[in-house]
Amino acid sequence: MTKRLPDFPWDSLADHAAKARTHPGGVVDLSVGTPVDPVPEVIQAALSSVAAEPGYPTTHGTPELREAVVGALARRHGVTGLDPKAVLPTIGSKELVAWLPSLLGLGPGDVVAIPALAYPTYEVGARLAGATVARLADGEPPPDGTKLVWLNSPSNPTGRVQSAAALAQAVTDARAVGAVVASDECYLALPWDAAPVSVLRDEVCGGSWDGLLAVHSLSKSSSLAGYRAGFLTGDPRLVATLLEVRKHAGMIVPRPVQAAITTALGDDEHVAAQRARYGRRREVLLPALKAAGFAVDHSEAGLYLWSTRDEDAWDTVGWFASRGILVAPGTFYGPTGDRHVRIALTASDERVAAAVERLS
Ligand SMILES: Cc1ncc(COP(=O)(O)O)c(C=O)c1O
Repeated sequence: MTKRLPDFPWDSLADHAAKARTHPGGVVDLSVGTPVDPVPEVIQAALSSVAAEPGYPTTHGTPELREAVVGALARRHGVTGLDPKAVLPTIGSKELVAWLPSLLGLGPGDVVAIPALAYPTYEVGARLAGATVARLADGEPPPDGTKLVWLNSPSNPTGRVQSAAALAQAVTDARAVGAVVASDECYLALPWDAAPVSVLRDEVCGGSWDGLLAVHSLSKSSSLAGYRAGFLTGDPRLVATLLEVRKHAGMIVPRPVQAAITTALGDDEHVAAQRARYGRRREVLLPALKAAGFAVDHSEAGLYLWSTRDEDAWDTVGWFASRGILVAPGTFYGPTGDRHVRIALTASDERVAAAVERLS
């Protein structure tokens, strides 16, 4: 059988991780974007409030969950007029990213367009479906045969925020070849130096959600990575198709997690508090990196500092590992990342302080 999937990138970091762990002060792991702050108590309470319910949950999510999505997108991101029927909860967003091409019926001969530097699961999803991947440079239109275009602003790994005009052009270009647009908006609630916008805003979509999906995650904004909590919304026809397939395939968000999502989306206070925590970590790490001779590119929003000393990414990873700090090489995200590393803000204040100390 030919190899369907790439090697799991994090496996190749094992030697550097082992080296970083030998640091007398312990490792500072900034290589993955996993939340470290406790799940807000109000969300924990919501999770357990339905723990006694024995029945199957619905794939479509409870009406309360769908209303909560509509409310949160309006309050937090200025997306108004959504029909709760066009909302679908997902088991975190990674499974949706990995299976979306298959759920849409894509296969051999179809093209999935992704950013030149991108979250690796976009490629995985295309390969699982047997489709072909096209990595697009900034502003490059998708080639003929493209059936799905992934957008990601703010970006993982670069933290780049695309303007509404740039996103609108990407939507226009995708529509010109008849492609669905999936906009991965999992970092939308973490702006620093630029204001990211949803693909569902009028200034991006031109007043029509035809062919558009906005994909959201509560992993970062509400520290719910462990719960596996996400949702999508957008074009009602597309959402109905996805609901149909996901019902057949058993892709159901557990009932306690549906309750947790509902509560998390109804409360903006914990989102602001979490953003402030990451903001404080960014405020100490960013100058420390610059003082250590790094240029930090983009990183206007989201959870990563896209950093370079204009040397091979793996040399930089080794330099950090010798200081007990683990970072991810830019090559995990695409060939053009070969001179950058991705440094996550997802470590405790104590571990971030240790990293700053070691960089000085
Ligand atoms: C761009 C992007 N999309 C999706 C995900 C998946 O997140 P989750 O499955 O926790 O919702 C991540 C996780 O880091 C990500 O960076």
